[in-house]
Amino acid sequence: MKTDFTRLLAPRTESMASSAIREILKVAKRPGMTSLAGGIPAPETFPMDILEHLFSEVLDRWGPSAFQYDLTEGFVPLREAAVSYLRRYSVEASTEEIMVSSGSQGLLDAIGKILIGPGDAVAVESPTYLGALQAFNPYGPRYVEIETDEKGAIPESLEEVLKKDKPKFVYLVPTFQNPTGRTLTLERRKAIAEIIVRHGALLVEDDPYAALRYRGDTVPSIKSMAPDHVLYGTTFSKVFAPGLRVGLAVPPPGELGTWLVKAKQGTDLHTSTLSQAMAAVYLEGGYLEERLPLICAHYAPRLESMLEAMKEFFPSDWSWSRPEGGMFLWAECPEGTNIINMYEKALSRNVAFVPGRYFYADPAGGSRTMRLNFTNADPDVLRQAIRTLGELI
Ligand SMILES: Cc1ncc(COP(=O)(O)O)c(C=O)c1O
Repeated sequence: MKTDFTRLLAPRTESMASSAIREILKVAKRPGMTSLAGGIPAPETFPMDILEHLFSEVLDRWGPSAFQYDLTEGFVPLREAAVSYLRRYSVEASTEEIMVSSGSQGLLDAIGKILIGPGDAVAVESPTYLGALQAFNPYGPRYVEIETDEKGAIPESLEEVLKKDKPKFVYLVPTFQNPTGRTLTLERRKAIAEIIVRHGALLVEDDPYAALRYRGDTVPSIKSMAPDHVLYGTTFSKVFAPGLRVGLAVPPPGELGTWLVKAKQGTDLHTSTLSQAMAAVYLEGGYLEERLPLICAHYAPRLESMLEAMKEFFPSDWSWSRPEGGMFLWAECPEGTNIINMYEKALSRNVAFVPGRYFYADPAGGSRTMRLNFTNADPDVLRQAIRTLGELI
């Protein structure tokens, strides 16, 4: 007979309970389903045609070192190449100030590990990135929510939260946010930077999507406005390949970075040396700069197609975000529409999306919202899926 070892689980483990969203993503993978539910890059954007070349370059340059244990802080050639790459995100950092994480997700876990004690307040946008909640949950935070609108987090709400709850840190995804696709405006970035500095607060700026801009002007990172108060993170997941699990972090000056490194040491010693070496040659060889416009050109028509279809097929009493990049769009229905009901019906017509309530720290939030991903289907397929949703509404 099998022994049930789940009785041994620590109390904190309960907060890791596999979320309903995993079930949704499983369903979304059924054959014949058009999934607007996932959040993964299109595999066509992976640079498959140059991987062998990148790999042989790695072997030529570093040989067995690319397969050896390495520094927890990260593979030095990657961190060196990242100095100029991060300027794309208006982040100024020296090689020593940059650390490598196992994806942005690895960074979020390390942040939770070193900063959150049971009951500590952590400020997040409402809604926020579900994966951040999953990373922080085991450390027992008490979430306090920052209100948002179509321009992103509302500075007055942030200020109120800082005064009232004194959170350990503030977590924001200011550019093409997951799940809403919204981008914090320049004015608000400045206001938020000023507030954070005035309160002596720490801001975690999670920035995986800024390079995926299809139109409009680049907005500088909050890190560039308050470098001493922002822990900045970005990733190669959307601009190279997520399977490599390589992210970059720039902590504020001081000891915080050292603690992140200690936390990471206990988790995985370091991010895969081979993955980091691949990312290093991808950056150094100018491949990323060459590929990025192609990736954006691949996604831009998908976003346009979804936006056009929504205008055509969604009723006028619905509202939705109009992102200029990223991977997601956020829709909100009028009072009286039952999104869960609609989700079930959409599945029966082979269209999947994620009901928005999963992205709220407060489980009562977001009952009238949905997240729609546009990166993983052709424009005409997206149009058809939106048409189906429109019919259901
Ligand atoms: C806001 C945000 N942060 C972090 C991540 C994790 O990305 P990575 O693949 O770098 O771990 C994602 C992935 O979708 C994301 O949307």
